[in-house]
Amino acid sequence: MIPYIEWLGRTDDKMIDDSIRYIPIERRHLDGIIRLCKMEPWPSFIKDTELTWRVLTGPGVYTIVAEENGKVVGFVQLQTDGAIQSHLSNVLVAKNRRRKGIGKRLVCEVFSRSGAQRIDLITEDAPEFYRSFAHKEWYGFRIYPQYKKGDRLTNGCT
Ligand SMILES: CC(C)(COP(=O)(O)OP(=O)(O)OC[C@H]1O[C@@H](n2cnc3c(N)ncnc32)[C@H](O)[C@@H]1OP(=O)(O)O)[C@@H](O)C(=O)NCCC(=O)NCCS
Repeated sequence: MIPYIEWLGRTDDKMIDDSIRYIPIERRHLDGIIRLCKMEPWPSFIKDTELTWRVLTGPGVYTIVAEENGKVVGFVQLQTDGAIQSHLSNVLVAKNRRRKGIGKRLVCEVFSRSGAQRIDLITEDAPEFYRSFAHKEWYGFRIYPQYKKGDRLTNGCT
């Protein structure tokens, strides 16, 4: 049982589907993760397999995979200090497996295993998914070294 399920907001049967295993990433999952990213399409994880592996397994990173009959049907990636703060970078579920509770279970699993007290994140496409958790909403920012908006190039830390 996942300790955080109850206060994250859901205890129904959708989250307890025995045909799916929620396990830490192993090297054999990498092709399946990249396949899911290609379908989305999420370009960051597609270009360089070794870089993707490093990103998903680096220090302080927790990556949990949802596996059904040996096939990757979802994954979540979170970075944490292991005690207080964490940041959720990616959660992705196969298109034909959505709305079955897999995304929510992935977030609960990674949160529970991380040891963190809270998760911060930004989202463009999935606000309703994150609103389904116990949460507060603030402003979110992503800072780049440089950012081009229309014709204008803005420098960040220079
Ligand atoms: C966002 C995503 C991970 C959700 O995964 P999922 O397995 O479908 O989510 P769940 O089934 O656990 O949904 C839990 C709850 O979130 C809400 N929710 C999820 N997807 C939703 C949608 N498209 N529209 C409205 N509410 C949604 C619902 O309240 C849902 O509960 P319900 O189905 O009982 O109504 C999945 O849609 C996905 O992979 N999207 C593309 C990638 C993406 O945008 N990731 C987030 C990047 S920040």
